Amino acid sequence: MKIQSLIHGAKLGLLATEVNGYWVARNAVIRRMASDPTNATAQTLARGGAPAYKRRSQSEGSMTFRQNHLLGIEPLHPEEITTILDLADRYAEMERGTQKHGDALTGLTQINMFFEASTRTQASFEIAGKRLGADVMNMAMAASSLKKGETLIDTALTLNAMHPDLLVVRHPHSGAVNLLADKVNCAVLNAGDGRHEHPTQALLDALTIRRAKGRLHRLNIAICGDIAHSRVARSNILLLGKLENRIRLIGPPTLMPSGVADWGVEVYDDMDAGLAGCDVVMMLRLQKERMDGAFIPSEREYYHRFGLDAEKLSAAKDDAIVMHPGPMNRGVEIDGTLADDINRSVIQEQVEMGVAVRMAAMDLLAQNLRAAREPQGVMV
Ligand code: NCD
Repeated sequence: MKIQSLIHGAKLGLLATEVNGYWVARNAVIRRMASDPTNATAQTLARGGAPAYKRRSQSEGSMTFRQNHLLGIEPLHPEEITTILDLADRYAEMERGTQKHGDALTGLTQINMFFEASTRTQASFEIAGKRLGADVMNMAMAASSLKKGETLIDTALTLNAMHPDLLVVRHPHSGAVNLLADKVNCAVLNAGDGRHEHPTQALLDALTIRRAKGRLHRLNIAICGDIAHSRVARSNILLLGKLENRIRLIGPPTLMPSGVADWGVEVYDDMDAGLAGCDVVMMLRLQKERMDGAFIPSEREYYHRFGLDAEKLSAAKDDAIVMHPGPMNRGVEIDGTLADDINRSVIQEQVEMGVAVRMAAMDLLAQNLRAAREPQGVMV
């Protein structure tokens, strides 16, 4: 081992203990360091308990993010989630300044393949890529989205031959993006697959919550509405659960997925009871495009029982924030005035954080991609 890394290791050893290849900071040290308001690392650690450093090895890219793809929240380690959020936080600050551009993706080609209609997610990925210097190409796949199975793989192989570096994919079928990731040799980001996962949405929701509440653990978080058909709900439940929050699902039994009892969440079919004492209220759109029958008596009746308005929100904490991934149906799942109330609603911040989170995710994946492509040293 080189002397440099021995010294580095000894310094770390004072502050941290190594667990499974991660340097986990010692709590007492963090608490002392966090009393210094200028020590940003200690502040972050004290907030989230995340490890300070990942042991570096030549074959590894970024410090606490080891993934080659972002296919879902499920495979992510809590420290990897924190790494994305910390970097996204920095990008969010950059975005608010006058210099909005970075160079993390310079020289890389990003292809956005959306087999399902999307406005905000596609625009958000496009802006994120361009702000970091990637060559971005959008492929309108919706028209050909009815052809599935082999066609998807054929499309992937065709694209792969064009040597993209980042492939952003949305597909109406759960699991389609994972299938595609197996066939290409670039980094794949899931922009939503069926009712399976929508990882960047959960990450942007998490960043919005962390910025509004100052922490991302031990919060009471209600997710309300069409849980059964929602990839947003699934990714959020996974992410918020990994960070030890208390999750409540509220909605009619017809819109609850089967097996929900095993998810480690509390289930309610009454807004008043479910929202009592909540810090965060996350509303979901009725995913009619994924419903194959009548799941609610009528939209009017649904709004009456489950639509969020100021009166129902009064059951939650006084400072509870209101979220919605969009697109929103005013008067169906949420009251329009409440959605626009900047004292309660963080819906616009969610959109803003979306760009920052996608910049961070693509930056980290690109670091790992570049590290993997680096020629390996020859032993002499
Ligand atoms: C979400 C999606 O596509 O799953 N929207 C989005 O990403 N902007 C939620 C939704 O469509 O209701």
